[in-house]
Amino acid sequence: MQVNLNKTLPAMGKFHVIFLRNVMIYFDAETKRQVVARLVEQLLPGGYFIVGHSESLNGLTDTLRAIKPTIYQLP
Ligand SMILES: C[S@@+](CC[C@H](N)C(=O)[O-])C[C@H]1O[C@@H](n2cnc3c(N)ncnc32)[C@H](O)[C@@H]1O
Repeated sequence: MQVNLNKTLPAMGKFHVIFLRNVMIYFDAETKRQVVARLVEQLLPGGYFIVGHSESLNGLTDTLRAIKPTIYQLP
């Protein structure tokens, strides 16, 4: 399924892992916050959210905890 991350996401179920690698480069800060918030809603508790090696979620979400550089987890 292809989705536009800038819009309300369709019903996709929830995920153990979400990779958002090298995608946020296209978005301004507010759009990044909205995209991350939308995707965090799709994570199962304990699920992992992984970004690209040059990216970080610092300042974009308080919901995820940083595990290692580029790897975050929903408590
Ligand atoms: C640099 S590529 C990275 C591809 C892959 N994630 C990787 O790391 O190799 C950026 C990707 O972001 C996707 N993208 C950009 N804006 C998007 C949006 N609003 N919704 C969904 N995907 C988007 C593009 O289609 C492209 O596949």
